[in-house]
Order: sequence, then C-alpha cells, then structure tokens
Amino acid sequence: MTKLKALNGFKDIVPGEVELWQHVENTARDIFARFSFSEIRMPILEKTELFARSIGEATDIVEKEMYTFVDKQITMRPEATASLLRAYIQHGLHVQKPVQRLFTIGPMFRHERPQKGRLRQFHQMDVEVLGASSPRVDAELMAMGALLLETLGIHVSLEMNSLGCPDCRPGFRKVLLDFIKERHGVLCDDCKRRSTTNPLRVLDCKNPVCREQVEEAPSIQDHLCDGCSEHFTAVQEGLNQLGVPYSLNKFMVRGLDYYSRTTFEFITTDLGAQAAVGAGGRYDGLVEQLGGSRNVPGIGFALGMERLILLLQQQEELSTPNVIDLFVVGLGEAASEFVFSLVHVLRKTGMQAAMDHEGRSLKSQMKQANKAGARFALIIGENELAEGMAVLRNMESQEQEEIGIGSNLEDISTLLVEKI
Ligand code: HAM
Repeated sequence: MTKLKALNGFKDIVPGEVELWQHVENTARDIFARFSFSEIRMPILEKTELFARSIGEATDIVEKEMYTFVDKQITMRPEATASLLRAYIQHGLHVQKPVQRLFTIGPMFRHERPQKGRLRQFHQMDVEVLGASSPRVDAELMAMGALLLETLGIHVSLEMNSLGCPDCRPGFRKVLLDFIKERHGVLCDDCKRRSTTNPLRVLDCKNPVCREQVEEAPSIQDHLCDGCSEHFTAVQEGLNQLGVPYSLNKFMVRGLDYYSRTTFEFITTDLGAQAAVGAGGRYDGLVEQLGGSRNVPGIGFALGMERLILLLQQQEELSTPNVIDLFVVGLGEAASEFVFSLVHVLRKTGMQAAMDHEGRSLKSQMKQANKAGARFALIIGENELAEGMAVLRNMESQEQEEIGIGSNLEDISTLLVEKI
C-alpha cells in the first residue's frame, strides 16, 4: 500500500520539534501579557469578501494565493488582521475599552510556492492595537516585537517606512508613476502590470533588474503631508527613547493594501529569500472600511512562527530532551499492578511519572527509562514488594538506595517527592 503523506506546503509538528513551538509560544504569551494584550481566537473560515475588502483585490494574496471555496464564497484566512477586525466590530469591543490590545496565535493559509520558511499552512503570532493613534503606540509595539525576538535569542534588524495617508499618497503615486514610466520597458512583466494597478509594489520587486531600476526612485518619506511627517518623526523619536535600533527603508511598501503611515519589518539575513520574520504597520482607515465606527485607528504586526523556529534550530542544535521525573519499574504481575496505582497517585501530586505496561524485563524497562529522560527510576520487584522495599536509582549519578515503601500509596508519594 502506498503511504499517505501530508500535502505539499503543509507540515506536521512532531514531538521533539513541538517543544520548541511551545517555548516560542509561551515566551510570546508572557511578553504580550506584560504589554497588557488579551487573547482572541477567531474561526479559520471567513467570507471571501472580508479579505477582498481589507487586504485588497489587486494584491498577490487575494488575486492568487487564497484557498477559497468558490461555490460558497468563503476563504481560509490568509492572515489574521482582517478576521480580528471583523470580530472587533461584530462584538462591539470598542465599547468595552476605548483601546483594545489583542493578540491571536494560529494557522494561516496561502497558496504560495513552498520553500524554506514559506509554507501553505503557516502560523502567525499576531498582535493588534485598536483605538490608538499616538506614534508612541507604534514605537511601543515595535519595541515589544524587538523584545520578544531578543528574549528568544533571535537576531534581526528592524526596518521602517511610512506609507502616508489618503491625503498624501496619491501625490507620491503620481511622482512615482512618472519615474516608472521612463523605465517601463525594462521592468519585469509583474511590474509592468503593477505599474497600473499598484505602482508602489514596483518598489519592492525582488527581480534584480527592477531593483536596479528603482534604486534612484523618489522616496515616499519626502512626500508625506505634515500630519504624516510629524507622526513618522515622532515614531522615530519614540524608538530612540526606548533604545530600539532601526533603519529607514524607502522600498518597503508591504503586500497588503490596508496600510497607512508606519510600516515595519523584522528582517533576518539567515533564511535566504524569506527575510521577514515579522511585519506589520498602521491601518487607520480599515475599521471603517470594514463597516465599523469611524476614527478607530489601528496598528499591529505578525510574526511567522515557522521562520522563528527555523532560526532557533539553525542557531544551535537545540535539542529539547523530553525529561520526566520518575520511571517506576514493576517486575512481575503483582508489582506491575501495584506500580499501576502508584504512578497514578504520583501523577496526581504533580510528578511526571511513567511505567511500562508490557511486562518487559528489568533491562528493557531501564532502557525505556533512559529513553524517556527519567531523572530517577524506582525499581519494585515481587520480593521487594513483599518486603515493603524498593530501589531508588539516580539515573544521572547512577547511585542507588533502598527505601522502605510500605503499602500506603500517599505515603510513598510524599517520600518520593522529598527524595527527588
Ligand atoms: P505578512 O507580511 O503577510 O503580514 O505576514 C507576516 C509574517 O508572516 C511574515 O513576515 C512572515 O514571517 C509570515 N509569513 C507570511 N507568509 C508566510 C508563508 N507562506 N510561510 C511562512 N510564513 C509566512 C500580515 O499577514 C499582516 N496581517 C501583519 C499585520 C498585522 N499587519 C498589521 N497587523
């Protein structure tokens, strides 16, 4: 029979690797809590329209990467921001608190060409602040991302840009279009198409010819209106004040249409083409665009978990051995039956305890104890049981001692908690 395999671009996370995922997630939860974020969980399926209206009809994601059930007009979320805002509006969360700080962790789906660090089902840790327009919040959010990555031991650089607002971006678009027109003939086919639909995207094309052509392109940072310019300066001051290093990148335009003003990316040089381990920005008009109240500004970012895990695995052979407290070896039927109850009592007290259920030999059970990474083994044979004795072995130092165990399981448990 042929073996069935997971789909291309879809991955299992197996024991041995899953511990690293838990570590990343727990670290994030801890840091998000320090910054007063609450968790929110949304469904994976949403109306297709939600993504078309937020991410934008002319984006790569909406045009060609979504997993859509065409007949039902529903789509598996390609990112979290749109769903989170939909939930925020639907539940009137602005009424509860004028400023909501929300995070969510979960799988997203994009039909991209799979490669290292790029999957079709991938996971994001996504944070959003709704109802705050202060540039301090932009700086605070980037500082939180930087702190999380630093805490995980991941080295990145923070790049930032401002995309202006509906008042100033059209002006820049015109200036940029004039610049692009002169070079139109040599641009890649994608950029030729983009120059009419979404000319800003020409700025971040990865094609080397296009890159060279836009090297001297005008910078949006020089075309911001007063409000956007002041905001952008204040964000930089905020980052300086918090001691978060960053650099400005006039080519960063992001692949989603909802951004205004601040955009940023956490970039690594260690993952080849998939340089962004996280990215985000401000989207001040989006809540209204999705049918929510006016004047609810927003900003957020998402970290790609697969990329974080790859970096951690690459940095050092992080073996996260599975460790348990105690392996209880029962030899013979009566001892095994006794051990069956004892292990359950030990687990109830909070100990990580394990046993064999197959009546294996002492040698084979000791091997199992080693494999399980047990710190201690308690060996109980038929004779020992009859005499109320057992052998406690420290698996690392290999020292052994005989202990009196009696027949009261709670007493044995108390004794073992003291000893190990
Ligand atoms: P994004 O840039 O599309 O932004 O994705 C954010 C991060 O998700 C990327 O930097 C990357 O680490 C990860 N990622 C994206 N696609 C893949 C993939 N196919 N495989 C593995 N990792 C991937 C957003 O999604 C926005 N919603 C971020 C945001 C939140 N903006 C404001 N709030």
